[in-house]
Amino acid sequence: MSPTTHPSFRNPRARHNFLGRTCSITGVGSYIPERVLTNADLEKMVSTTDEWITSRTGIKERRIAAANEFTSDLGAKAAQKAMANAGITADQIDLVIVATITPDMPFPSTACLVQRKIGATRAAAFDLEAACSGFIYALEIGQQFIMSRTYDTVLVIGAEKLSSIVDWEDRNTCVLFGDGAGAAILQNRPNSHGLLTAVMGADGNKSELLFMPGGGSKCPATHDSVNARLHYLRMEGKETFKNAVQAMCTAAQEALRRCEIDITRIKCIIPHQANRRIIDAVADRLGATPEQCFINLHHTGNTSAASVAIALDQAIESGRIQRGDLVLLVVFGAGLTWGAAVIEW
Ligand code: UT7
Repeated sequence: MSPTTHPSFRNPRARHNFLGRTCSITGVGSYIPERVLTNADLEKMVSTTDEWITSRTGIKERRIAAANEFTSDLGAKAAQKAMANAGITADQIDLVIVATITPDMPFPSTACLVQRKIGATRAAAFDLEAACSGFIYALEIGQQFIMSRTYDTVLVIGAEKLSSIVDWEDRNTCVLFGDGAGAAILQNRPNSHGLLTAVMGADGNKSELLFMPGGGSKCPATHDSVNARLHYLRMEGKETFKNAVQAMCTAAQEALRRCEIDITRIKCIIPHQANRRIIDAVADRLGATPEQCFINLHHTGNTSAASVAIALDQAIESGRIQRGDLVLLVVFGAGLTWGAAVIEW
């Protein structure tokens, strides 16, 4: 595609990228833990059925990290694969950003723990919290460091050990979530394009729809808080569902508008993998065909900040996305937060 016909050329924000410095995704990687927890396993733990979970969510199984495997371990494994795919070594990395709601501990950041595990000794490191929307937030922030010429190589990770904050006695939530991590290497590459645009949004007025009450400054851990099960996530499913469909559609449409392209130009849509019915509703409203959507939630469940990062890696690995294809990522999560990004792979 010639520079003047490239969609980014007509987009004021992306045009700046085009004429200035470009930010490419030079490699992606993901890791999901070995242990598989099936719907049949869950039938033995809470009052649920494979039929209910499959028909209401599309999820058949999810991966659960081992007791001695933490968010930083999952993130480091995904990062190592992304580094290998990008053909870089750890000492080239200038910055590590980890998006997560399940850090190994409140501090230090999981990004610092990943930095140590992969040996990225030159890199600065910090965590970012935007719940399930975290990977797009992290991509956009990572890109800003490249565009501003502050850094040449940024490692962006979405990683979660959600099994550590899921209430395994609450059938409303425990069937939905899984563990895993995905990573991307962002670098300046002349004459190639990665992130063409990213939309980010938030609405703190609806923070009570999906949250974890305990463990922060408002409600530190006490015997009472543990007994009251305040250290587990809570969700109002139906309201969250409605907000997810609305916000994901609006964000996706805004991202397409900024690139001056319509949905038919998108080779692959990678939506947040929370619920098959949400994905179908979003695709329908965007006028997308079912074939355009990449879905892996039947194997992974909802992995929050890792969700679209894992899906992007699996879509590339399976050949669904080829270099040069336009890809639409669209996310939604607690906060509320949402986002969408158009990337040229
Ligand atoms: O990643 C962040 C974003 N997350 C999301 O976007 C998730 C959004 N929400 C959802 O995906 C769906 O709302 C759920 C999958 C969580 C629930 O589906 P739903 O169709 O909205 O079901 P519901 O909450 O209206 O519950 C229907 C019934 C209830 O029973 P009653 O009150 O009608 O008798 C629930 O108690 O289903 C019951 N139920 C279950 N039954 C069997 C809830 N969970 C289960 C279960 N097994 N696991």
